[in-house]
Amino acid sequence: MLITSSEIMNLKGRDIISIRELSKEEINFILDYAKKMIPYATGEKSTDILKGKILSCLFFEPSTRTRLSFETAMHRLAGRVIGFADPTMTSQKKGETLADTIRMADGYSDAIVIRHPLEGAARLAAEFADAPVINAGDGAGRHPTQCLLDLFTIKMEKNRIEDQKVVLLGDLKYGRTVHSLAYALALYGAELIFVSPKTLGMPKEVIRECKKLGVEPISTSNLEKAIRDADVLYVTRIQKERFPDPEEYNRVVGAYQINRKILEHVKEDLIIMHPLPRVTEIDPEVDSTSHAIYFKQAFNGVPVRMALLSLLVGGRI
Ligand code: CP
Repeated sequence: MLITSSEIMNLKGRDIISIRELSKEEINFILDYAKKMIPYATGEKSTDILKGKILSCLFFEPSTRTRLSFETAMHRLAGRVIGFADPTMTSQKKGETLADTIRMADGYSDAIVIRHPLEGAARLAAEFADAPVINAGDGAGRHPTQCLLDLFTIKMEKNRIEDQKVVLLGDLKYGRTVHSLAYALALYGAELIFVSPKTLGMPKEVIRECKKLGVEPISTSNLEKAIRDADVLYVTRIQKERFPDPEEYNRVVGAYQINRKILEHVKEDLIIMHPLPRVTEIDPEVDSTSHAIYFKQAFNGVPVRMALLSLLVGGRI
């Protein structure tokens, strides 16, 4: 039997800090493996490949989806989870450094998931841990597992990522998910359109990265025109917590909203994605349309994180 390179790919022990540290071949491998995890993620099938393994979930910043889906992923693989969702209940409150907290988690567990408000915190954690460290979001920096589940969702819904016309809408300046996603979509040769309030445009370095990969993104404020023949609309929240100046936030809040009216002229098979949480940028009336796949996208975090944990910690279905 012919053994393909994907069959012998070994990610055991790797840190996942940024999507940029994974090759396209590795991303494809993770996405293919995540597809195989779906029946295990739904509970239709069961496995104990991570029995005896422990995952630390260290959340220094609020989370619903990322934390719960990592925990679900570990439980579905028969592993166990330790950690915290409220850092004020840890010894950080007594002045313990991040490095020392990580040293503790490293001794107690087989992999570490960390979300932290400071950019670079996950990379620092990786320096102090032998166990693999997964960045679950560091400030306005990176959120690689969100990027993987976004790519997975596009692939599952559209069968391919290449050549898709993708509109990224919202806070493109502070939104960590759109920075990673724009890069990754460019890696696949997708067509990119950036729509945002003027002050929240995509950072120049991300645009430069896309161009380097051969994709010339279009930036516009004309949302209706941009989505008319789009395949994917990726909406993001304007993140109040990332604005250094509250006045800057007040000027842009409520600048856009996706509702049934604006969707009257889009393609029938347009999919609308959102990393969630949403506030006002998608009207709940959109939830019942065939375009809305953001809740399915959130579920996809489970098989994708199961695949990743299985590959990093060891044990394969
Ligand atoms: N998408 C995402 O990261 O959601 P949470 O902040 O709820 O984890």
